[in-house]
Amino acid sequence: MARQRWSSRTVFLLAALGSALGLGNVWRFPYLAGKYGGGAFLVPYLIALVIVGTPLLMLEFAVGQKMQRGAIGSFRRLHPGFGGLGLFALLTSFVICAYYVVVMAWCIIYFLASFDVKWSGDAKSYFFQNVLQISDSVNQIGGINWPILLALLVSWIAIYFCVWKGTKSVGNVVMYSVPLPVILLGILLIRAVTLPGFMDGWEMYLNPVWSALLDPEVWTAAFSQTFYALSLAFGIMIAYGSYKGDEDDIAKDSWITALVNTGISLLAGLVVFGILGYMAGQTETPLSELAASGPGLAFVVFPEALSLMPFPGFFSALFFVMLLSLAIDSAFSLVEALNAAILDKYPHLKLAKVSFWVCLAGFIAGIIFTTRAGLYFLDIADHFATYYNLMLVGIFQAILAGWVYGAEKLRRYINEVSDWSVGKWWNASIKFVIPAVLVALLATQFTTDIRTPYEGYPAWALGIGWAIALVPLIIFLIFVVKDWSSVSNQHSLASERER
Ligand code: PHE
Repeated sequence: MARQRWSSRTVFLLAALGSALGLGNVWRFPYLAGKYGGGAFLVPYLIALVIVGTPLLMLEFAVGQKMQRGAIGSFRRLHPGFGGLGLFALLTSFVICAYYVVVMAWCIIYFLASFDVKWSGDAKSYFFQNVLQISDSVNQIGGINWPILLALLVSWIAIYFCVWKGTKSVGNVVMYSVPLPVILLGILLIRAVTLPGFMDGWEMYLNPVWSALLDPEVWTAAFSQTFYALSLAFGIMIAYGSYKGDEDDIAKDSWITALVNTGISLLAGLVVFGILGYMAGQTETPLSELAASGPGLAFVVFPEALSLMPFPGFFSALFFVMLLSLAIDSAFSLVEALNAAILDKYPHLKLAKVSFWVCLAGFIAGIIFTTRAGLYFLDIADHFATYYNLMLVGIFQAILAGWVYGAEKLRRYINEVSDWSVGKWWNASIKFVIPAVLVALLATQFTTDIRTPYEGYPAWALGIGWAIALVPLIIFLIFVVKDWSSVSNQHSLASERER
């Protein structure tokens, strides 16, 4: 059967952008910028984007496009011993997908609660008590939270209908779901700059605290955010690249994706900080406290800010539709990565059927995050998957493409098909900079986590976190040993025959 294709370059770009644009832009990026020195965070972030993010994005597009396979098949074509690395990436995708869609489910609940701004007055207890009905600790699982489970089901049904016809249905969806949140963000920006106090917020956001650059944690945060933002090391961009023709442009598409994504993050920062500046004035809370609210930003601080402005219901609904439309393309890109690999292996299966089973499995895996202890599990899964799995896959991917297959060979391919040529610096980035930076980040994170148990969670709960990182790693290593020995067996058989 012929491989699926994007109907046009625009559709491909929108799909790749849709995956990149997500909760990371509106929630993760601004709170990191707030936490790590405002404008000064942009410096390490932009450096990370140029020396690590974009080169790796190019690598993934190139590998997928040249090999015309999903993650497992593409890595195997780079070297027959490395199919297991694709499996590593996809198992990670599956875990992330399972909880990412739960965050979408919260957005649905917030959207429905927007019209009468149900959280006004006490946004914090609305989130933790009403929506999450959170238990006191991770030791108390406390049964399923049915409204969230129902919203989760609705989210998965929506995702299923986005992917059930592969590139065809995805292509139809991204035409709307990618521009829509950008337009909504634009409306919110206009709203922000017409509120008193927005300038205070911007000042904090854009005024660099240069001393922050001396803190290694800022650099770790910037580099891992680049990975997360560009959906790297999940097998997604490989799968998306594999639906392009093997003569299509790579370099320009990578730069466009990376730069537009960064632009949207910066824009989201303006919206978030502008509105927080207004809120600081209204509630007489120091801005630094609001900005440093971390993960609670999107579901506690921001909703509260929305409730303080004129027409709160309208703007709240707008905000949550924006989050939903941002998140859905990221969520289904994870499903697409899995689908691509399954269909490579079993080409006779029906796409709609494979999508159905993947979505059902994702829904079932997500149930644990809908319990009253769900937020704790989500936090643990997110921590381990984004810090360990991502970094590990990133390192092995760079070694495989850079050293085993050959960065220069891949670079020549990119230059053959691309309008913009990529210089030799790319080889250096893939072979040296990316592995070195990622190993350093991984080692820092590892020592921190060994010294102080993450967020003080009990050992059994952190055990699940370590399992999320270690089980796929071990599976990968087993496959490498197995495949490698069968490759070398064949090799020696062949040379015997020659003799
Ligand atoms: N890139 C997405 C964002 O910034 C996050 C994401 C990561 C989505 C991995 C899918 C897969 O929100």
